[in-house]
Amino acid sequence: MIPFVDLKAQYNTIKDEINAAVLKVLESSQFVLGDEVTAFEKEFAGYCGADYGIAVNTGTSALHLALLAAGVGSGDEVITVPFTFVATVAAICYTGATPVFVDINPVSYTIDVNQIEKAITERTKAILPVHLYGQAADMEPILEIARRHGLTVIEDAAQAHGAEYKGRRAGSIGDFGCFSFYPGKNLGAYGEGGMVITNNPEYVRTIQVLRDWGQERRYQHILKGYNYRMDGIQGAILRVKLRYLDAWTDARRALAAHYDELLVNSGVTTPTVMPYSHHVYHIYAVRSPQRDTLQQKLHERLIQTGIHYPIPVHLQPAYADLGYKIGDFLCSELAANEVLSLPMFAELSEAQITIVSESIKAL
Ligand SMILES: Cc1ncc(COP(=O)(O)O)c(C=O)c1O
Repeated sequence: MIPFVDLKAQYNTIKDEINAAVLKVLESSQFVLGDEVTAFEKEFAGYCGADYGIAVNTGTSALHLALLAAGVGSGDEVITVPFTFVATVAAICYTGATPVFVDINPVSYTIDVNQIEKAITERTKAILPVHLYGQAADMEPILEIARRHGLTVIEDAAQAHGAEYKGRRAGSIGDFGCFSFYPGKNLGAYGEGGMVITNNPEYVRTIQVLRDWGQERRYQHILKGYNYRMDGIQGAILRVKLRYLDAWTDARRALAAHYDELLVNSGVTTPTVMPYSHHVYHIYAVRSPQRDTLQQKLHERLIQTGIHYPIPVHLQPAYADLGYKIGDFLCSELAANEVLSLPMFAELSEAQITIVSESIKAL
């Protein structure tokens, strides 16, 4: 069997360091926030090239708090894409604001920057591009449009740890960058985790207060806050894993190059790396009009694959109240029908990539 992702394989390579880091937290009893989380905030923000990091319990919470710190709330609109994980859209709804969708560029799978401006109204407060699959959205035009219309830019970098746009790390380019450390992510905790990064010190305090019940000091609640704190153990684990992130990214990129090479003339379309982008291949998605058959045949050969994502958010029953219908975002809808995510993780072998690629060619 070739798994889609193998978290155990990675744990085995760093077991001693992880176990020691976890034990240290147990001995310290700093189970919630604490020194390890504070150190991780500094180290991860530094890694991304941002001044500040605020660790939270999930990527969804990171998005929620960034939106709140930007002043987004009821009556406002936030522009994003329907071709994303549902959390991007859910976080906007948590604030009481309305998500307004813009289709994706069918080549990059990220927001079509040529369609943003026509979605702007007097209610628009922010643009929330998603760096899908590990490739940054086209940030320069987004920032330029935002500047012209006085909008905040919040990057959903949940899939893009270490990805770059014109040499700048994803998450550090807009007003806020939001990360998830869900276990399967390129930098994954052993449980849930997330972080907001920013260069603006005014936002930092607000987000710190909001993640901890709105407390300025213990039992003094200056804002209506949340319990969105990161666990000490996750901070300690993520500090260890951050030291390996670049090596793991290099491995993913080498494996992606191997897929690219072997899948020439295979009948599937391989990912396009945009000229501005350093892709970190959180997901290696190919494209085929016969996607479902392809997935079934690979399954029969014991090759696990995934679909990210089979239904765009504008067509999800839970978001029917937004009033969209089939045909509103054709590029997202077609991508949802055609993309297939192949096995991708740093410990995958070239031999396994060859088996997957040969299996695709044989179909
Ligand atoms: C694009 C995107 N945004 C947001 C999230 C939410 O992150 P989390 O699962 O940590 O809440 C995820 C991952 O799950 C994601 O892939």
